[in-house]
Amino acid sequence: MNDRYDDLVRAACEARLHSYCPYSRFRVGAALLSSSGKVYRGTNVENASFGLSICAERAAVFQAVSAGEREFTAIAVCADGETPTPPCGACRQVLLEFGPDMVLLMAGSRGVDGQVKRFTVSELVPEAFSAFTPGSDAEVQG
Ligand code: THU
Repeated sequence: MNDRYDDLVRAACEARLHSYCPYSRFRVGAALLSSSGKVYRGTNVENASFGLSICAERAAVFQAVSAGEREFTAIAVCADGETPTPPCGACRQVLLEFGPDMVLLMAGSRGVDGQVKRFTVSELVPEAFSAFTPGSDAEVQG
């Protein structure tokens, strides 16, 4: 893997340390690389009302979009456990919105010293839902 991606995995592993997960005790960190070269971090933030919890990947995307970013080239995810944890379906769908070609790196708690898996987002979301692609007829009819 190239150095830029190693740094992205390291950033995701650092973000994981900020996880607020008193219920699952499963820490996840994400680091999202924008086309402008900036890195946005996210972590999972849980809530006593479980359904209000948010995953690390979506926390990173929402932070980046709130800062004015819309284009991303890669995201790294680092979770507790020896083997890399794949993103949940909800996060895959949100990532797809901002780039099917985005590189997705998954690492376990050993970060770059352990196994790192690499995919594109579209590989992980075959037959994706996209009825409301911006600019499509479906959008203007709404
Ligand atoms: N989690 C993530 O942060 N990302 C995922 O893609 C899967 C799950 C979090 C949510 C929850 O806080 C904990 O992991 C256990 O499900």
